[in-house]
Amino acid sequence: MAAMVTADDQPYLLGLRLGGRLVMVAGGGAVAARRVPALLDAGADVSLVSPEVTGSLEDLALTGRIRWIRRDYATGDGAGAWLVCAFTSEPAVNAAVAAEAEAMRIWCVRADDADASAAWTPASGQAGDVRVAVLSGDPRRSAGIRDAIVGGLRTGTLGARRGRGHRPGVALVGGGPGDPGLITVRGRQLLAEADVVVTDRLAPRSVLDELSPDVEIVDAAKIPYGRAVAQEHINAALISHAQAGRFVVRLKGGDPYVFGRGAEEVLACLRAGVPVTVVPGVTSAVAVPAAAWVPVTHRGVAQEFHVVSVHVAPDDERSTVNWAALGASRGTLVLLMAVERLAAVAETLIRTGRAGTTPVSVVANGTLPTQRTIVATLDTVAPRVSKEGVRPPAVVVIGEVVNVAGEIAELMRVMQPGTPGDIGVNSGGPARQGPDLA
Ligand SMILES: C[S@@+](CC[C@H](N)C(=O)[O-])C[C@H]1O[C@@H](n2cnc3c(N)ncnc32)[C@H](O)[C@@H]1O
Repeated sequence: MAAMVTADDQPYLLGLRLGGRLVMVAGGGAVAARRVPALLDAGADVSLVSPEVTGSLEDLALTGRIRWIRRDYATGDGAGAWLVCAFTSEPAVNAAVAAEAEAMRIWCVRADDADASAAWTPASGQAGDVRVAVLSGDPRRSAGIRDAIVGGLRTGTLGARRGRGHRPGVALVGGGPGDPGLITVRGRQLLAEADVVVTDRLAPRSVLDELSPDVEIVDAAKIPYGRAVAQEHINAALISHAQAGRFVVRLKGGDPYVFGRGAEEVLACLRAGVPVTVVPGVTSAVAVPAAAWVPVTHRGVAQEFHVVSVHVAPDDERSTVNWAALGASRGTLVLLMAVERLAAVAETLIRTGRAGTTPVSVVANGTLPTQRTIVATLDTVAPRVSKEGVRPPAVVVIGEVVNVAGEIAELMRVMQPGTPGDIGVNSGGPARQGPDLA
């Protein structure tokens, strides 16, 4: 829908506050399905007239979020509405809806004919508490400009509020497994507003490059077998920066609450009277297998998956894991921090009921350009990993779902020749094995 905008026909931009106000929508197809959720987000009381609707609109009707009047549009349907939307696939019906609205002095949006539409819907988006709306007369151009503005606001290259009013405090942000494309939008926004970023080794470090040079970056890397920054020091740094009036982002790998000691940091901040917020992240427990094509569940193959920290071996007195139950279960096992203890894990699982032929996938540096995957069995995985010199970080997946990954990779190879779908050892390099999650 492109519109001719002449000098004396410039739209007057307005933000409609629709909370609790009636909006009548005529039509239940793709246009309505796309636009009704935004009306609901604005709090509108939506009445939709259409003999048929899409599945998502039906779901909104069934859950009471919209009123669905199941018939063709009829004169009078727009009465009492503050806004009318003509979204049917029939131009004649849309024209009738618009004509009735005009007669009643109700603003009407016509999706099929911009020139005949009294009101236009801008390309809109949100970055934090900023709403962006763009009208250019060309919807594609408007959407492109909107994306550029919203993207700039989210990454902080445009109008970042850093140092201009963000409340002092701490935000624990889950950064995802490493690929910078897998941090959440909210996480990016908060990073763009940070005065200080306290970061982990497994956090997506490349996003730090985008920060303004005056943002202080505190490296809290806990390098295995190397210099470890004590948790108390990290807590103290978060608290002291926040108490000095700064907004601190604690950037962590994966999700802060999955073996991330996130709750310890939250509790420490709250006990010190420092306001804290938590932004969940994409955990490596699911994303890293996915990056190597492994689905952690698959119908008919695995109904359950267990995520286990193997920072101590199964026979270590500090282990609280019920290894016998895991050995007896048929579910997928996802092991984190397991690389050095794979021999003990395999021996325990075989002794407690898993077949030695159970497939195992070991995915190191998942979602990063250096990702590599080794596929073996419980019998062979420990010597293979040792022979190949696989180092942490790695996620180990045990179960028949590993075979599904093989099937997917094979089909990918056929459909997209050149896809790095080899199941075996991926030598790494820029091409990653698995779907491009960026
Ligand atoms: C201390 S745990 C933190 C987990 C994190 N909070 C999460 O939700 O992903 C660290 C372990 O996560 C796994 N891990 C994290 N990022 C990874 C990656 N990119 N590739 C493979 N394993 C990863 C490894 O098992 C690593 O030893």
